[in-house]
Amino acid sequence: MLLLNASGCLDALTAPEVASSFDAFVTKTITPAARIGNAPVRIAETDHGMLNAIGLANPGRNVFVNETLPRLREIGIPIWVSVGGFCIRDYVETCEQLAGDDVACVELNLSCPNVDEAPESAAEIVAACRVATANPLYAKVSPHSWDMAETVRAVEAAGADGLSMINTLRGLALDAQLRPTLARGAGGYSGPALKPVALAAVRAARRATALPIVGMGGVYSGRDALELIACGATHVALGTVLFADWNAPARVREELVAEATRAGFEHPDDAFGISLDDVARLAN
Ligand SMILES: Cc1cc2nc3c(=O)[nH]c(=O)nc-3n(C[C@H](O)[C@H](O)[C@H](O)COP(=O)(O)O)c2cc1C
Repeated sequence: MLLLNASGCLDALTAPEVASSFDAFVTKTITPAARIGNAPVRIAETDHGMLNAIGLANPGRNVFVNETLPRLREIGIPIWVSVGGFCIRDYVETCEQLAGDDVACVELNLSCPNVDEAPESAAEIVAACRVATANPLYAKVSPHSWDMAETVRAVEAAGADGLSMINTLRGLALDAQLRPTLARGAGGYSGPALKPVALAAVRAARRATALPIVGMGGVYSGRDALELIACGATHVALGTVLFADWNAPARVREELVAEATRAGFEHPDDAFGISLDDVARLAN
């Protein structure tokens, strides 16, 4: 199992010592052109999680490849690049631009709730990117999908090497005057409240595929990580917790081993898929 950060939840250049406590660093989503993102207010705290409407603020792929990526490499851990866009060509051209670069993985962000332009179907984007790059391709699919199994089978057939799930859910907070707290209105909801949604999504995906899955959504403790593994996550990512606790990677690793022992497993990976009733089939 690898422990990763969730895209957009850690600035590795500001906090390289936190980034290096992960097994790999996942970048903020990169788009073809620079984006300043949505107008403030872009972040709000809620009772059981956090709302954000950052809107894919990033320096654009040219600046990223020429300036940011070389600096990220100095941290010394594998780099996963999160790629976003608004049409198939956006994704394909970024994949082509990264093809000669030593990146460990390309994570296609097919599920950002904070931009108005919806990308085309997840499978179409994956298929086009598959032709454009030999880099490993992970598809970050939307938790809003009605039929997770169908989505997963479609992106696998299109050539994805793995899945990342889940992204934020669309949510809304109101201020004292009953106006939306975020300037954009709704935003992406993340944090503890997401865990049950993430567990269900990962478990449904695991029933449909043997591809590796990076599970995320509300992981704050080793127990949370173990539950994702039990639902079929191969790897685990930490997101919103990093805004509150930069020691979370070390703490979650430690707790994960203790929680696995408490649940009767020698190693956390031994709990893989245990919540499914057809574990034997998976093992074969
Ligand atoms: C402030 C913020 C920014 C995010 N930016 C991105 C992004 O650029 N690309 C992406 O794929 N996911 C992004 N996400 C979603 C996270 O990667 C993750 O999927 C989600 O927050 C669920 O995990 P969590 O509950 O542990 O935070 C962002 C989340 C937050 C809170």
